[in-house]
Amino acid sequence: MNHQLRKMLNEMPRECARWILVTGGAGYIGSHTALQLLLEGYKVVIVDNLDNSDEEAVKRVVDLSGKHGVNLYFFKAVGESVAKPLHYYSNNLIGTLNLLELMADVGCKKLVFSSSATVYGQPKSVPCTEDFPVEALNPYGRTKLFIEEISRDLQYSDPEWRIILLRYFNPVGAHPSGLIGEDPRGIPNNLMPFVQQVAVGRLPELTVFGSDYNTRDGTGVRDYIHVQDLATGHSAALQKLFNTKDIGCAAYNLGTGRGTSVLEMVAAFEKACGKILPLRIADRRPGDASELFAATEKAEKELGWKAESGIDDMCRDQWNWASRNPWGYRPPHSIEAIIDASNKQA
Ligand code: UFG
Repeated sequence: MNHQLRKMLNEMPRECARWILVTGGAGYIGSHTALQLLLEGYKVVIVDNLDNSDEEAVKRVVDLSGKHGVNLYFFKAVGESVAKPLHYYSNNLIGTLNLLELMADVGCKKLVFSSSATVYGQPKSVPCTEDFPVEALNPYGRTKLFIEEISRDLQYSDPEWRIILLRYFNPVGAHPSGLIGEDPRGIPNNLMPFVQQVAVGRLPELTVFGSDYNTRDGTGVRDYIHVQDLATGHSAALQKLFNTKDIGCAAYNLGTGRGTSVLEMVAAFEKACGKILPLRIADRRPGDASELFAATEKAEKELGWKAESGIDDMCRDQWNWASRNPWGYRPPHSIEAIIDASNKQA
């Protein structure tokens, strides 16, 4: 894989800023971002191990990008199946180190890293500004934190690097076409994919984790951001990288600056899908912050970017995707799903 990638990176015209390598480009955020970049005229190389994503998403990105589809290149990276949390460490840390090394070797020293609001841990106050102290509450968060630190060290050691760390808040929604969206393997961990699967009848009820937080209705508050806004946030970050020689290693929040509770989000989704969703209140989930939302001023001022969609738009687009693709990219009786299942049994 490294060999193929090295060849590809070497062949990219050096002076040309229009080639973008999108790792995880078949996934939820990656596919929306890759599409956005193609539509803006970039040449996009997707690398993905298809561990928690589907090749079908890449095909649909090509369809949606029309004449720009010829500018998409897709590499399958070999996926490793190891037990979590080693899985996260192996994929996120080793994968990133290999990539950074390769990029340095071929002189491609511009990086936009997908970090996460999870690095704010349990913040002392909200909204979270980019200079808040960072901490990790779980292995996933730790990998994000480590890579942020590695990026800082790397940039410090070699000022030619230009690095932007994007701290995503809670991405939800789907492309308005309803052709691409979130399709996690197995039982979803996150709120909105779970809600979506209850709405289409794949899961019987939603469990609300905690109703005794110090928030307006007692449930956890998060900053949900439309995945389309997240995609344009990446393109704004790239522009900033290309235009700012001395960017160094800079962090930006990608959020809306508005907090929404679990129950408010469920109500918005019920409105979008026209159904009442069965739910059960349970204990808090360990490690969950009560309230997390972004300070957006830095991204607005320095990237010239602002999220546009509200939660009704997010729920409308997510329901459009869910109702058209209740089983995601692979209906349970599709030939791909049957082969997948028999491979797992073997
Ligand atoms: N929640 C439920 N029931 C569920 C799932 C979630 O009540 O079945 C609640 C949580 O307790 C929380 C809110 O919904 O209050 C949002 O939870 P998510 O799991 O959707 O999102 P988190 O904010 O906990 O974390 C997510 C990702 C992290 C990522 C973080 C910030 O899981 O990996 O967003 O980007 F780092």
